[in-house]
Amino acid sequence: MPTETLTIVDNRNGRSYEIPIRAGAIRAMDLRQIRTGPEDFGLLSYDPAFMNTASTVSRTTEIDGDRGILRYRGYPIEELAERSNYLETAYLLLHGDLPTVDELDAWEYEVTHHTWVHENLKKFMDGFHHDAHPMGMLVSAVAALSTFYPEARDGADPATRHRQIVRLIAKIPTLAAFAYRHSLGMPYAYPDNALSYTGNFLNMLFKTTEVRYEPNPVLERALDVLFILHADHEQNCSTNAVRSVGSSQVDPYSAVAGGVAALYGPLHGGANEAVLRMLREIGTTARIPEFIRDVKAGKAKLMGFGHRVYKNFDPRATIIKRMAGEVFEVSQPSPLLPVALELERIALQDEYFVARKLYPNVDFYSGLIYQAMGFPVEMFPVLFAIPRMSGWLAQWQEMRDDPEQKIARPRQLYQGAAKRAYVEMGRRSPAPRPGG
Ligand code: CMC
Repeated sequence: MPTETLTIVDNRNGRSYEIPIRAGAIRAMDLRQIRTGPEDFGLLSYDPAFMNTASTVSRTTEIDGDRGILRYRGYPIEELAERSNYLETAYLLLHGDLPTVDELDAWEYEVTHHTWVHENLKKFMDGFHHDAHPMGMLVSAVAALSTFYPEARDGADPATRHRQIVRLIAKIPTLAAFAYRHSLGMPYAYPDNALSYTGNFLNMLFKTTEVRYEPNPVLERALDVLFILHADHEQNCSTNAVRSVGSSQVDPYSAVAGGVAALYGPLHGGANEAVLRMLREIGTTARIPEFIRDVKAGKAKLMGFGHRVYKNFDPRATIIKRMAGEVFEVSQPSPLLPVALELERIALQDEYFVARKLYPNVDFYSGLIYQAMGFPVEMFPVLFAIPRMSGWLAQWQEMRDDPEQKIARPRQLYQGAAKRAYVEMGRRSPAPRPGG
């Protein structure tokens, strides 16, 4: 028995239990022994939305929400954003350590040489309606990749697994760019292997008639930093989805398609899109007090504010706000920037937001940068999904290698009807309608 334990007294029968505490947690399975009799299934812990449940041991990303700390494999996000690049960061997440020069060269070469997609994927993209949301297209296209690589079902073999990881990181910018060009009715632009990961992505998005696309170095670097900031965020909604879907041992394409779907929602990766729509709706600084009143009355939400884990500040938001200035120097500054700055200033002084520890999160300013770079709002969650691919895959790999993980299958507290007799069609009376 470890030295740290918890004593639980069951007041239903006076029995006492000593439960071990390891790494600041008790095991929910240790509660199962707490029973009132042989018919009793045992005590469950009830935790909708995982408010206080650790679903895994992880060695990938550490967040300290109270101190505003985010580290990948021990390295502070501020240092990675300053000194690293996205592909190096992806390597770090997947392998646990920063690469040497040779390792990075080999990794960049591999990713660069897997950026092409099968021509049939273009036909698949063509099947979407002209105004299909690019994130909906991305969910489907990522899932569709699994049909091109049936070998991926063997997730246990390290070499097979590595090939799929490289393919996913290499191909997601291509799929994202194809989705964007489809929505504009433009021909798809093929990857250019001479460019960096983000430079090539900009090429596939924006290349028109020029022989060779030259990315703006400030925008290329800004996008790379944004990719570093978004690469992983421990057990967030989409990562949990990837782990949960992947726990059935489905191929990684299908598992991460589940992650893209989760990221699509306005409370997660769709928030940056929602921020811009919100700023447009507010329109002018004069309308901010009215909007804040609506938020406090529960009629609206201040998108881009608040976080389940960060209760002090989001370190990513601090870096992004600084970077916004650099981007606006080489692009058209967003006309909505004054509205965002004033909204942030007012909210940070308001008792409602202060009391609830609501601060700007990563999405508050990223949308304004994306807009200044020329992206339509529909592309914002797609720009989140591209770098998060490395985090999803690092977490998927960790899950597959963890001997404690099994198929994810929560319990429930059933509170529906007790057993009742089947009623024949002609004898049924209509169910009462709410309010009717
Ligand atoms: N605007 C107004 N009130 C808010 C907001 C907000 N953005 N966020 C939380 N609250 C209030 C909420 O109504 C509740 O008030 P009360 O105690 O009076 O009921 C209190 O603050 C606690 O909020 P919660 O909903 O219990 O907090 P949560 O941890 O479940 O939600 C969140 C976290 C990020 C979903 C939420 O803050 C939110 O909806 N924010 C806006 C959407 C957003 O910006 N999402 C991006 C998150 S960062 C990127 C990512 O991880 O995807």
